Amino acid sequence: MAFDVDHVLAEATTEELAALVCGSGSWHTTGIPRLGVPPLRLADGPHGLRVTEQLLTQAVPATCFPTAAGLGSSWNPALLKRVGEALAHEAIALGVDVVLGPGLNIKRSPLCGRNFEYFSEDPLLSGTLSAALVYGLQSNGVGGCLKHFAVNNQETDRMRVDAVVAERTLREIYLAGFQRAVTAAAPWMVMCSYNRVNGTLASQNSWLLTDVLRGDWDYSGVVVSDWGAVYDRIAALIAGLDLEMPQAQGRAEAVAAAVEAGELSREVLEVAAERLLALTDKAASAVRPAGRIGHHDLARQAALESMVLLRNDGVLPLAPQAKVALIGAFAATPRYQGSGSSKVNPRELDRLLDTLSARCDVTYAPGFRLSGELDDDLIDEALLAAEDAEVIVACLGLPDAEEAEGFDRTHMRIPENQRALVASLSEAGKPVVVVLSNGAAVEVADWVEETSALLEAWLGGEAGALALAQVLTGEAEPSGRLTETLGLRLEDYPSALMFPGESGQVMYGEGVFVGYRGFDALEREVAFPFGFGLGYTTFRYDSLTLTDTGSVVTRDLRVAVSVTLTNTGERAGAEVVQVYVRNAPASVSRPVRELRGYTKVWLEPGETRTVIVGLGIDAFAFWSTPHERFVVESGVYAIEAGPHSRDLPLSGGLRLDVPRLPSALHDESTIAEWFADTEAMEALQARAVARTGERFALSEQMYTVVAGQPLRRFAMFPGGVLTAEDVDAVLAEYGRSV
Ligand code: BGC
Repeated sequence: MAFDVDHVLAEATTEELAALVCGSGSWHTTGIPRLGVPPLRLADGPHGLRVTEQLLTQAVPATCFPTAAGLGSSWNPALLKRVGEALAHEAIALGVDVVLGPGLNIKRSPLCGRNFEYFSEDPLLSGTLSAALVYGLQSNGVGGCLKHFAVNNQETDRMRVDAVVAERTLREIYLAGFQRAVTAAAPWMVMCSYNRVNGTLASQNSWLLTDVLRGDWDYSGVVVSDWGAVYDRIAALIAGLDLEMPQAQGRAEAVAAAVEAGELSREVLEVAAERLLALTDKAASAVRPAGRIGHHDLARQAALESMVLLRNDGVLPLAPQAKVALIGAFAATPRYQGSGSSKVNPRELDRLLDTLSARCDVTYAPGFRLSGELDDDLIDEALLAAEDAEVIVACLGLPDAEEAEGFDRTHMRIPENQRALVASLSEAGKPVVVVLSNGAAVEVADWVEETSALLEAWLGGEAGALALAQVLTGEAEPSGRLTETLGLRLEDYPSALMFPGESGQVMYGEGVFVGYRGFDALEREVAFPFGFGLGYTTFRYDSLTLTDTGSVVTRDLRVAVSVTLTNTGERAGAEVVQVYVRNAPASVSRPVRELRGYTKVWLEPGETRTVIVGLGIDAFAFWSTPHERFVVESGVYAIEAGPHSRDLPLSGGLRLDVPRLPSALHDESTIAEWFADTEAMEALQARAVARTGERFALSEQMYTVVAGQPLRRFAMFPGGVLTAEDVDAVLAEYGRSV
């Protein structure tokens, strides 16, 4: 042990503890040098180390992996774990104790400027992938930090906006990924978001930081603020925010003064300080392997798994030494990461112009200006370059200026000058392969028919272009799958009418119907569905069997979903077997189906394998607002398996029988709700009989008229058998007692 936590707490002055919970400079904790507590170094970020002296200065060189949009598309937790391990090695080499990532906010709208830093529109994927990355980091003695907790789904007004979200939506969608990663990987840190959640800044939100995170999920690590997220440091401490970053003028002094003045109890300060001391101790006594910068090959492998092949009429893979017209400025100036706090300074950077030229006979033309300005001469030059080619590879996407941390897009189209280029190239009479480099989804529906192949490469990191050349030429398989729905148009997204809100508020009115949950409920056609992605081989799904053990009542239900999968093509390849639960009719409005399990498998040509995906009780549950917990209702649930959310060839039924939940009666419960709770109703009747000699009764016709009225108000009508006192007395015993 590096130092004794209890001893430090006993010996430290209030000023020292106050300084400890307020950062030092941009990237360090303060420590208590006098008592042997060293400072910790924190650094961004999720897809590569950004170690800088000042907040915004250029970082020292480090490996740049694909951003989360790409890493997520791998649907491969084992890969995320390896990336986490590599990040740990680089962190160790750079003296970093905690890496500020991963970011796992839900992609509510394709417009969010930071979607490139987030994994998915689905919390199961976000949570499992984040947990794997954190596990990779922490098993090497470097901390992970989940961010941004919570409901940071837009950049517009991000430091003030109030996200107004129903609790069920929070629990099932926006908090669910955090819950999974917190409970599975015990991250050393969780970073609160900038925004408000239901009226209170996340940094000062005790419901979020204490009741949910620590109370419900048992989290014992440190909550750090996003950089500059704290408005009132005292309120933040009381709410459960342990560490404020970066150092803010006068803060430590203000905290110490508040303790002196009796406005903040020393115990509250000590609780936060103790968590920081425990973290510092963990970091100081961690057994760490030797540090090393430079993981280009892993970055390449990660990029391979990040790419999603959306369309292919057979033009890919390219023939060996094919004559290729390589068009598009991104081939020479790669767009491989996003801008903002996650920006890595890579040690090496591949360009498709070089990597493809090493494999094919390439003629290059830029085709468009990165500024977005239309330049007909560049289009003509591209057409000229295509004249002798067998195939055109067009590198399109979003230039840096179109998406970044700090702002949201206002539309989801590719720039007009690129759109014009595709139209012209498609008339050249050659197959056109479009490669997209972008962090957030773009509309493809109005031009995809002009292409022979479409490969979504996301922001592939420093080795993305090498991976691209390998995929284009068939040296490697594209094995990514969409982690977000590609809608036909922005207007089709469930959040479209409410994003990004107005007058400081954003309403999450679509509720749990985010992404495919909404597209499916509304039966909307999409360009490419959630989970979709092609490879160079094909798979057949046979025979789904379900084996269940345990029960909902004892909360140990386990369902093994087993599927037989065969590679029916001529090449080895990967398939992501996806398992969705089609919800039984419920007392609340539920999505048609939800992703509840997945696994990625590699099969040789002709190989058949039995793939097993395990489900727990949470695969059937929803958040019951009156019961304030996840519940499962009786019914027949269809368990569906297949290659993506809209192609689920296998299905099996599982009947769950669960005793009806007692209702959560309260003073606005309706007559119908009271009647449904036989015990409470009998208690009420007993009181009525004791007082008047009569039971409370309603004719069938009267019941249909008044069933929806709160009983307590009904009881107040003159001449009735019940009184408000009767209702109150029974509520005192049975109310909200579930
Ligand atoms: C970002 C965080 C980042 C922090 C430190 C903030 O602006 O929201 O994601 O970790 O800066 O750079």
